Amino acid sequence: MSAFIKTGVIGHPIHHSKSPLIHNHWIQQYGLSGSYEAIDIPPQDLKTALPELLKEKGYSGFNLTIPHKEIALDICDDIDDIGQKIGAVNTIKLLDDGRIFGTNTDAYGFMTNLSAHHDGLSYQGKNALILGAGGAAKAILWGLLDAGIGAIYLTNRTREKADMLSKLDPRIHVIDWDQRDQKNEIIDIVVNTTALGMDGQAALNFDVSALPSHALVSDIVYAPLMTGLLQAAHNRDLPIVTGIGMLLHQARPAFQHWYGILPDVTPELEGMVL
Ligand code: ATR
Repeated sequence: MSAFIKTGVIGHPIHHSKSPLIHNHWIQQYGLSGSYEAIDIPPQDLKTALPELLKEKGYSGFNLTIPHKEIALDICDDIDDIGQKIGAVNTIKLLDDGRIFGTNTDAYGFMTNLSAHHDGLSYQGKNALILGAGGAAKAILWGLLDAGIGAIYLTNRTREKADMLSKLDPRIHVIDWDQRDQKNEIIDIVVNTTALGMDGQAALNFDVSALPSHALVSDIVYAPLMTGLLQAAHNRDLPIVTGIGMLLHQARPAFQHWYGILPDVTPELEGMVL
């Protein structure tokens, strides 16, 4: 009989998290022995609570969500290349030698979701527009840069944050938030990483009319699934990618780190989390 593997997600607040639904579904689907819980820990307690949960309470690993992804950098003994590049970790594993390993699966989640919906999508020589310069934007920037994107136009309400991120790579060009749709004629991929368009938030004001007819429009907001941005793109018959897939795909390599299986994203699972 295989050992029981305890895992979970740590955040503050955490009650809204869909991650327990996703991981417990996979534990059942693959007939594994384990559990995945949501644990609320305030940021000031993470440095003591996380090692204690791993080393004394028998947990094998965790996902970390807001506001813990950057704080955890100081807690990990070993952070892989992508975690270091993104400057945040969302997946933790206790190694056999007692060290705490950290990585970031958000870039994988975003990029895999795009290719799951648009097989053979190529990035060489393409121009992307990223709206927002927060934690999610940083992971997506790395995903696109790593895939060989030609140029990224980055725009953010607070321009300084975009200016900071643009130092990461000469392919990143910052444009003013007020000018966010002014480059649209040359844009191949649009990504909204801001909270705008989310239930309870203001709408994203973005004119899709000048985008080329092949431009792919994606949103990381998934509540609602059809955001105003996606609806406007759909009305123009532009290809779209909704935000729920990024959430599902970023969970897959985390699950693999703990349970040794890279699980599938099925329409059934997609239906469960919506
Ligand atoms: P996440 O981890 O989801 O990226 P975040 O790091 O808090 O969350 O980033 C939120 C992003 O949404 C930021 O780019 C933020 O812009 P600022 O840097 O100017 O705060 C953007 N955002 C949130 N509310 C916004 C609003 N009302 N108008 C424009 N941008 C907004």
